Amino acid sequence: MRLGVFVQTPGHHVGGWRHPDAVVDGWPNLALMKHIAATAERGKFDMFFLGDGFATGYGEHPSTIGKFEPLTLLSALAMTTSRLGLAATGSTTYAEPYQIARSFASLDHLSGGRAAWNVVTTAYSKSAAVFGRQHPPHAERYAMAEEFVEACRILWDSWADDAFIADKKAGTFVRPGSLNVPSFHGKYFTVEGGLNVPRSPQGHPVLIQAGSSGPGQALASRIADVVFTAQNDLTEAQAFYRTVKVQVAGFGRGADEVLVMPGVFPVVGRTTGEAQEIFAELNRNIDTAQAFTVLSERLGSDMSVHPLDEPVPDLPETEHLKSRAALLIEMARREKLTLRQLYYRVAAARGHLLLIGTGAEIADVLETWFRAGAADGFNVMPPFFPGQFDAFVAEVVPHLQERGLFRADYTGTTLRDHLGLKRPARRS
Ligand SMILES: Cc1cc2nc3c(=O)[nH]c(=O)nc-3n(C[C@H](O)[C@H](O)[C@H](O)COP(=O)(O)O)c2cc1C
Repeated sequence: MRLGVFVQTPGHHVGGWRHPDAVVDGWPNLALMKHIAATAERGKFDMFFLGDGFATGYGEHPSTIGKFEPLTLLSALAMTTSRLGLAATGSTTYAEPYQIARSFASLDHLSGGRAAWNVVTTAYSKSAAVFGRQHPPHAERYAMAEEFVEACRILWDSWADDAFIADKKAGTFVRPGSLNVPSFHGKYFTVEGGLNVPRSPQGHPVLIQAGSSGPGQALASRIADVVFTAQNDLTEAQAFYRTVKVQVAGFGRGADEVLVMPGVFPVVGRTTGEAQEIFAELNRNIDTAQAFTVLSERLGSDMSVHPLDEPVPDLPETEHLKSRAALLIEMARREKLTLRQLYYRVAAARGHLLLIGTGAEIADVLETWFRAGAADGFNVMPPFFPGQFDAFVAEVVPHLQERGLFRADYTGTTLRDHLGLKRPARRS
């Protein structure tokens, strides 16, 4: 089983920051980030993952209002960790291939081969304003993403692995013939010229893709090493897992070359009752405006205008997070949720699998999903940091290890080693 920690501080739950065991001082708090990374490495996690977006404002989720730029933070954490994979989100709509290729290749060098890029198209239109641009429609964002990743892959293959020989006697710093100058001409992006970073330890950083719509799955099947997804129903998660693995084969790739990792939002207690009490306290601490922002963003409609104690209304199809909106509506219909009930679910897990219980109880569900072909691993989303992540590592991980589901120690040094993924050969 693979495990990542999805680091969104002070916590994934909208009210998580108010819990006594959430650290909120000295914001954004580097010591807290170092603590989380050290805990993840002690727990033998595959990776530390940072999401990203560009919006800020009073009504936002408390964990996205003010934070570190992901690659800058991961560069610092590369110096305080030695094995943990370091994954950052990078936008294919609001960046250039050269910048992204260069930054992630650098992080891969700095960390000795532990970098991963979560390829996102940036779903929310409010991200556009800070770049002074128009937000492209969903289909166009994915067309851009396809080109963007291809341009990055060509850039990462600019130099041969053995290009930088630095032969002092012969006076040859770089081996002749070792540079393939990229020439990429797409509809959206053009790159002429090589990457001024030597080929990195992993060849290419691990590529993660997190969009689950049709175009999202097509992109994932072609390029992703890891697929992040939100799933909250075992049967649907199995169907998603199967679909991804079949689509991957359509691109001539093996099913084990792509790992599916749904998010899981675990509320861990020493007893079931304690876990339920922690969850109840979190829900008492919800700020209504922030919860409505998160709900409205996920559904792509202003939900504050609808009555709370009636069934979730029919909504127009969104141009933002297509798959997440569909997942939440499907869950609301399946479980006959009122808007208020959906509001509480989204304020906590945003549609991901929500588990409340002891370490053994949570390990039971993770084991079931893993053995049932619904997941190759999980992206753990603690309600608040560091308390609930410390609890996950102390209470859940030992059960997974005792059952032989999760490593007792690292056996390799790079993130590709941890994930059992091949290093890509250079294409000429
Ligand atoms: C675990 C996980 C993490 C995500 N992190 C981000 C993120 O940091 N930034 C972002 O713009 N989208 C993020 N997404 C959203 C997707 O990348 C995608 O934009 C969204 O699901 C809409 O794409 P779709 O319509 O193909 O589903 C994340 C999704 C998942 C499942």
